[in-house]
Amino acid sequence: MFEDLLRAWDGEEVALRFDGPTGAWMFVCVHSTALGPAMGGTRMKVYPAPHEALADGLRLAQAMSLKQAAAGLPFGGGKAVLAVPQVPAPRSPERRALLLRYGDLVESLHGTYVTAADMNTGPADLDVVGERTSHVLGRTPGNGGSGDSGPATAMGVFHAIRAGLRHAFGSPDPTGRTVLIQGVGSVGGRLARLLHEAGAILLLADVDAARAEALAAELGATAVDAASVVDAGCDVYAPCATGGVLNAETIPRLAGRLVAGAANNQLATPADGERLGGAGILYAPDYVANAGGVLHLAGFETLGWDEAQMIARLAGIEETLAEVFAEADRYGIDTAAAADRMAMRRIEEGLGAR
Ligand code: NAI
Repeated sequence: MFEDLLRAWDGEEVALRFDGPTGAWMFVCVHSTALGPAMGGTRMKVYPAPHEALADGLRLAQAMSLKQAAAGLPFGGGKAVLAVPQVPAPRSPERRALLLRYGDLVESLHGTYVTAADMNTGPADLDVVGERTSHVLGRTPGNGGSGDSGPATAMGVFHAIRAGLRHAFGSPDPTGRTVLIQGVGSVGGRLARLLHEAGAILLLADVDAARAEALAAELGATAVDAASVVDAGCDVYAPCATGGVLNAETIPRLAGRLVAGAANNQLATPADGERLGGAGILYAPDYVANAGGVLHLAGFETLGWDEAQMIARLAGIEETLAEVFAEADRYGIDTAAAADRMAMRRIEEGLGAR
């Protein structure tokens, strides 16, 4: 089963370790180092079977290659999965021991792979990993980490919305445009404030209804039921909660002209990119729109950027998306396919430059 998955994959290497004391499988998937060390988060999760964890890691690592390339960063794509029998409690001795052994595995790759946080791992876990390896981003600020990437991601999505508005309506100005934000957490909440300041009309939805209502009251916005988000009339739909929200069932019901948000893996399947285009909805590909997270980590922790450089790079998401939209128009393809093409081209240029 492992062999079939690995042979069907187009990445560079996978380091695999079985952790006897916990029964966990560790998969470090290095998809591409064409543009630099493979960087991507470590996901800790219970899977029905180890091969499903490997399949997840392989897919996510490939997506990271495209994301890093589209962001113009000197990093390749990688992802690690810790497939645990059960997720050990935060700060438990078992979790610490597992993370230390995982840190040894990352260190053994000598920087081919640089880790960060993903599902069920956070800055405190990366502090532990960092006791064994320096190839780690996103530790707590006291240990050299750059802190919450939510504000940078929100600013990047704000620029993605401006790029989309420019393409769809002829002006990037959000004034008077109705934007529906699904999920007003770390990113969505900040995005709401940015758009409010820019004059947008806001509809806010969150499964934590009280959170959406409180923010709506503060910003003079309207809270909408999280269960009926896709039916709400708007110009822009900004998914900032979970993935898979753009699918055969939701797309025909979407009222907006533009989708641009922070959530990862917004398209349920690649065909949904075409489906959006067919419905006349402009889609800002998720990994381009939400690149603020990787720009924040890489920029502040390895590339030595100051605030001004970060602001400029986040604004650059607007130009990147303009290129993506132009490419989609030029070749008559959907915008998700156009972003993949652009990213692949950069990776191939990186390989050529070696
Ligand atoms: P968060 O956990 O702070 O906020 C998510 C919010 O969405 C919460 O308020 C939650 O109650 C709400 N929510 C969850 N399911 C929902 C649903 N079905 N409908 C409506 N609301 C729902 O997460 P954060 O950091 O704001 O991230 C949001 C999304 O952006 C996630 O998909 C994340 O993977 C993605 N992302 C975040 C980055 C970052 O820098 N924080 C970077 C790149 C992507």
